[in-house]
Amino acid sequence: MRKKVTIVGAGNVGATAAHWLAAKELADVVLLDVVEGVPQGKGLDLLEAMPIEQHDCRITGTNDYSDAVDSDIVVITAGIARKPGMSRDDLLHTNAKIMADVITRVVATSPDAILIIVSNPLDAMAQAAYKHSGFPRERVLGMAGVLDSARFRTFIAEELQVSVENVTAFVLGGHGDTMVPLPRYSTVAGIPITELLDEPVLARLVQRTREGGAEIVKYLKTGSAYYAPAAAAIEMVEAILKDKKKILPCAVYLEGEYGIRGLCVGVPCKLGAKGLEQILEIKLTADEQAALEKSADSVKELCGIIGV
Ligand code: NAI
Ligand code: 2OP
Repeated sequence: MRKKVTIVGAGNVGATAAHWLAAKELADVVLLDVVEGVPQGKGLDLLEAMPIEQHDCRITGTNDYSDAVDSDIVVITAGIARKPGMSRDDLLHTNAKIMADVITRVVATSPDAILIIVSNPLDAMAQAAYKHSGFPRERVLGMAGVLDSARFRTFIAEELQVSVENVTAFVLGGHGDTMVPLPRYSTVAGIPITELLDEPVLARLVQRTREGGAEIVKYLKTGSAYYAPAAAAIEMVEAILKDKKKILPCAVYLEGEYGIRGLCVGVPCKLGAKGLEQILEIKLTADEQAALEKSADSVKELCGIIGV
């Protein structure tokens, strides 16, 4: 039987994630939104591309959670997105209400699903999803680190004029201005980038990564990034569906790892069929650890405001 992935929120990120899923023929897709007609229209349009792509994915657009019943994975992109001048944190109260409502419905219809949270502010929304769902932490994952490290990899590859295939990079911490790109653990063909780029250049790339979301918002003016965010969420889906044991930075509920307890923050995770299968604790310098703690503090503040 084919796997079933529901995407809640059929906006820019959700619809593009459905597109990546179908283009990779990973699963049947349910695209769900509160707006009548939009998921149905986008779903049917995507379904009609399947004969061209020669893929047999079933794609269902709906406003009804009964269509989402027993999903293997639920990707949650529901909420409002950033406009110019808004920070991710400005979305907090509206998206917290939406997340609570969505989680109640998802838990009722797909009690065994693995959740991948995308809505912002990411780490606080992942924490809300973890708390409201009552799911074990292995089944509640936040997507941000995959996107942030993809941005870092893009900028490194452009700077050094090398293939993106050669570049690995790690970004830890919360998905905000305090995120922690780790040049020491970022490589080009196995060579640490600290050997290839001097300090001012590294600092510039790190800063551009931190501001990567805002850079796109400034161009788009009416919304935020969606191609790379959707691709990042689907990389996580693929790692789970194919039981790849892939190491990806994800926001997960920490229980003492990295000295952080009771908070969803981005750390290196092994993703496989069970969802989160291991948290990798890499050695950090005192400065890196302090940056991670500062980032965790800002996540904690947001979680406190919405009481999760
Ligand atoms: P969008 O506005 O295009 O789509 C959001 C969709 O959610 C809309 O279609 C809306 O009708 C729907 N929605 C609202 N309430 C709902 C509910 N209760 N149930 C079902 N659907 C509901 O926004 P976009 O660009 O798709 O972004 C979605 C979210 O993802 C935003 O919060 C954005 O900030 C976040 N995001 C997070 C990223 C990350 O790295 N974690 C990257 C990019 C976006
Ligand atoms: C991004 O980083 C808005 O969080 C979103 O593009």
